[in-house]
Amino acid sequence: RAMLVFALAVFALSGCSGHPSMDALQPKGTAGEIQLDLIKWSFIMMLGVFTVVITIFVYVLIRFRKRKGKDIMPEQVHGNNWLELAWTVIPIILLAILAVPTVKYTFQLSDTKPGPDTLEVKVTGHQYWWEFEYPELGIKTAQELYIPVNTKVHLEIEGRDVLHSFWVPALGGKTDVIPGRTNTMWLDAKKPGPYQGKCAELCGAGHALMDFKVVAQTEDDFDKWVAQMKNPPQPITTSAQKEGEEIFRQNCIGCHAGANAKILGPDLSKFGTRDTIAGILPHNKESLKQWLKNPEAVKPGAKMPKIDYLEDKELDALMDYLMSRK
Ligand code: CUA
Repeated sequence: RAMLVFALAVFALSGCSGHPSMDALQPKGTAGEIQLDLIKWSFIMMLGVFTVVITIFVYVLIRFRKRKGKDIMPEQVHGNNWLELAWTVIPIILLAILAVPTVKYTFQLSDTKPGPDTLEVKVTGHQYWWEFEYPELGIKTAQELYIPVNTKVHLEIEGRDVLHSFWVPALGGKTDVIPGRTNTMWLDAKKPGPYQGKCAELCGAGHALMDFKVVAQTEDDFDKWVAQMKNPPQPITTSAQKEGEEIFRQNCIGCHAGANAKILGPDLSKFGTRDTIAGILPHNKESLKQWLKNPEAVKPGAKMPKIDYLEDKELDALMDYLMSRK
């Protein structure tokens, strides 16, 4: 019965179809493949050691068990040079073998020299959201990292407040996010698709919900995205949007001023193009309302204050304005 429960649990936990891929065992990028290769190497070796140790253990248990009518003290052994030499030398050999791919891949994965074919992205981890800046393209986004497929993406990773860790299981990572220090890594995606990203370092109440997405696109689609992001914001067309803009100025701009280098909240100038709200809710007005009225209930520890003091009409206007930012 225990086995059945275990099997069902494995089945339930592994089959997350419909969500962006986050399977480190089915990597969709070079860095992820390299990491999986290392996992395989070490797993095979561990399995070998495990098998030998358990076999000897079980053999000894059975062979030297206490038998009825044979109440004698077995021969006591003190030291065996050959045995001790073997269990010292064999692990050294195993570790030396494992060191070969480890060292090779460590150098490969730390190669973050910018080149003509690479895309540079600055990643900043905040409690509890991710900021992505493309210095060469003059673009700043949050929660969604757009990249072209088959392109090496260099990431410069920094933290604004506490320790976080940048991890896209299907593509690569994890890389520590440390305030006051810049860590680097690279990844690429061989197939288009959304890939789920996670914060992999306990960073506070909202840690489990500090999600982001890597959206890998074909070269053409990526160029279109870049053009869209670089376009000036769409003009205000309705009176509700106009009112919303005014409410945004009075209530939100202090933290959401995109041009400010030390912003507290994400740049919202292209909010209407987003896929999610706060990185976890579907991108629609209902979720936006839920988020604005009580961010803490959606993401514990979120630094965004409650916007529950606006009248329904004002809140609607603010949402109209935000959703029209494309
Ligand atoms: Cu950020 Cu956990």
